[in-house]
Amino acid sequence: MSTPLEFIQSHRAQFERELCDLLRIPSVSTLPARRDDVRAAADWIATHLRDIGLTVDVIPTTRHPLVYAEWLQAPGRPTVLGYGHYDVQPSDPDELWTTPPYSPTIRNGGLYARGAADDKGQLFTLIAAIRAYVRTRTPAPVNVKLIIEGEEESGGESIAAYVRSHGDRLRADAALVLDFGVFAPGIPAIALGLRGIVGGEIEVQGAARDLHSGLYGGVAPNPFQALAEIITRIKDADGHVLIPGFYDRVAPPDALERAAWDRLPFDEAAFLREEVGSTALTGEPDYTPLERMWARPTFEVHGMPGGFTGEGTKTVIPARATAKISMRLVPHQDPGEIRSLASAHIRSLAPRGTRVDVRLWHGAKPVVMPPTLPAVAAAQRALSEAFGREAVFTRMGGSVPIVADFIEELNIPTVVTGWATPDANAHSPNERLDLEHFHKGIVAVIRFFERIGGRA
Ligand code: BES
Ligand code: ZN
Repeated sequence: MSTPLEFIQSHRAQFERELCDLLRIPSVSTLPARRDDVRAAADWIATHLRDIGLTVDVIPTTRHPLVYAEWLQAPGRPTVLGYGHYDVQPSDPDELWTTPPYSPTIRNGGLYARGAADDKGQLFTLIAAIRAYVRTRTPAPVNVKLIIEGEEESGGESIAAYVRSHGDRLRADAALVLDFGVFAPGIPAIALGLRGIVGGEIEVQGAARDLHSGLYGGVAPNPFQALAEIITRIKDADGHVLIPGFYDRVAPPDALERAAWDRLPFDEAAFLREEVGSTALTGEPDYTPLERMWARPTFEVHGMPGGFTGEGTKTVIPARATAKISMRLVPHQDPGEIRSLASAHIRSLAPRGTRVDVRLWHGAKPVVMPPTLPAVAAAQRALSEAFGREAVFTRMGGSVPIVADFIEELNIPTVVTGWATPDANAHSPNERLDLEHFHKGIVAVIRFFERIGGRA
């Protein structure tokens, strides 16, 4: 009988094949037309977990199902709550994919598909690690509860409601959230902070209906012009957000944390060239790029639906225009408060002749964790062993809404980590899971279980 580490070594090809099956399901949570696909992905995971021998519950919600599973075979030992999500972001623009988003393809050591890195591939490592113990009949070093959601990419409200009402069922000694990435290829990372988010849309109404721009140009308000004026008064050219009170609760990272960031192998020029690909980085000049991405709040526009965007010309003054926006929040900004401050400010900016409507969704709180938590220390050692490189402490500019609830509602020390590489193209065409990192990720989960369980 082999060990769990030997098992995963001899099952690499099989894991990759199975992950491809899951990646063929277009489980885009934000698109109502994909509802059945989201459900199919939940069922795929439930079936897979049952095959391994776990007790599984597919929990219906008002939107997409939650998958809850238990592997409680280590009485007296600690319990780990594992988290991941099976939903994905939309794949568009599809024409920019080298191979289609839901036809997983391996090339140059990477597995290309929507969701390969964010988050199906990472979620899979958690499941593969458990399977390695079960199949090799190795005594479980820890108990594991898994809570897997299908709405992370579109707000995550169902899991939040579940966590609030089923705290007892989810009780655990540590949570392992696999929805992040390495700092650089081969350098594992643990996020000690996540930004929060508030997002939504601004709708501007001008004339009662679309108007001929020759007949009415010069007198009728143009809602796109209005949106442009509004947007430049929400954030200035230096990246400073102009919403009154926006920065009041922002807490800077302490000197120790900031000093640690200065020691990270971050090459600004390479970052600009290889990851961002623009001619310059933007944002607040008084902060370093890492500070701007991890410890400063932002405002961004994602798209401006409305008006004429077809081929050719149409000389029209559209009646309506919309901007989809979000703000990333840092400790200790409060999503509810930021929602009110932002709505009031944006409504006050309505140019003459327009009506401005602001609709912001619930949002997610920012979080920070101390590096001194025993679970974090265990993860740091486990990751360092698995990758053969010291794991670093970073923060993450993105959001995983449920993490704040794990910490504040359930009081569970939470480790946020993952295996996605900087070239993973999360939310973008040609999303990619680096297969070397994927397999090391499974090793890291096994080593984490051993450390938390006190066997290493
Ligand atoms: N896994 C990502 C966050 C992430 C992205 C981590 C890239 C590391 C590298 C997560 O699924 C995500 O994108 N969350 C959304 C949440 C939002 C829609 C509420 C985000 O941050 O935009
Ligand atoms: Zn994710």
